[in-house]
Amino acid sequence: MNIMTKPSAKQSFTVTPIKEKIGAVISGIDLTKPVDEETRQALYSTIVDNIAVVIKDQHLNPAQFAAAMEMFGELMPDQITTNLAPGVPMVSILDNFEKNSKGEQAKKPKNATWHTDHTNKELPPKFTCLYAVAIPSKGGGTSVANMRAAYEALPAERRAQLDGMQTANQRISSARLAFGNPDTIAEQARLAEPLMMHPLVRTHPDTGTKAIWFHQGKTETVTGLDPYQTQDFLKDLLQEIITDDVTYTHNWTLGDLLVVDNRAALHKAGSDYNMSEHRKLYRTMVRGDRPR
Ligand SMILES: [Fe+2]
Repeated sequence: MNIMTKPSAKQSFTVTPIKEKIGAVISGIDLTKPVDEETRQALYSTIVDNIAVVIKDQHLNPAQFAAAMEMFGELMPDQITTNLAPGVPMVSILDNFEKNSKGEQAKKPKNATWHTDHTNKELPPKFTCLYAVAIPSKGGGTSVANMRAAYEALPAERRAQLDGMQTANQRISSARLAFGNPDTIAEQARLAEPLMMHPLVRTHPDTGTKAIWFHQGKTETVTGLDPYQTQDFLKDLLQEIITDDVTYTHNWTLGDLLVVDNRAALHKAGSDYNMSEHRKLYRTMVRGDRPR
């Protein structure tokens, strides 16, 4: 996986914007080949500017996917370790055909509510990178919402209220556990992680712009609220900030690689597909800074 052993080269590529406030398609680049610094920087700024970027027509195995995404920084492990790519532990596999310990397949799609990844960690991923290897005939897209635009669209008083708030995060919030099953309750007790504090509104380290940033299912409390009030507050906040004009839903084609700048986005998986059809994505995450 050491990409430095091959000579890197400049690759030019085309950027086509998708929507005014979010999304771009990159074509004409081959990520099985190492790219030079100029190309790497051009890719990085395209991702930061557009928040959700689809890199078309890639032919990557898990090791090549990981090696390509390492150009953006250190990869971080997925805290769900049940389905990692064999021999490539930094790539996890999101697979609707995966069976649980009882040999059963999930009946409903996972990750189908708005969130950002691994908010219970001190250094959550700056980028989440997804690569499609099996897709259903219809639906099952990945949606990404521009939280910079959503924040900027709010009235000044509302922005000021949110600015002062902190979230206390853990792997699974206790309010979510109350609706869950004994297995998840046992899992939380086993993990017994300390709460991780993060700002509800974070400032992007590259652009200095602010964005709303949280994972409802991992937020134990928001400043001043108990766990149940917190869930209601975040549910209402999502209703307020997720609008069509800030959202792009990517309907997958095989070979697509989607990179999301988590520092300015929330995302979710589509639940609108037939679970008897296979949906399988490789995922890797690039470690970020501590949110501020
Ligand atoms: Fe996610």
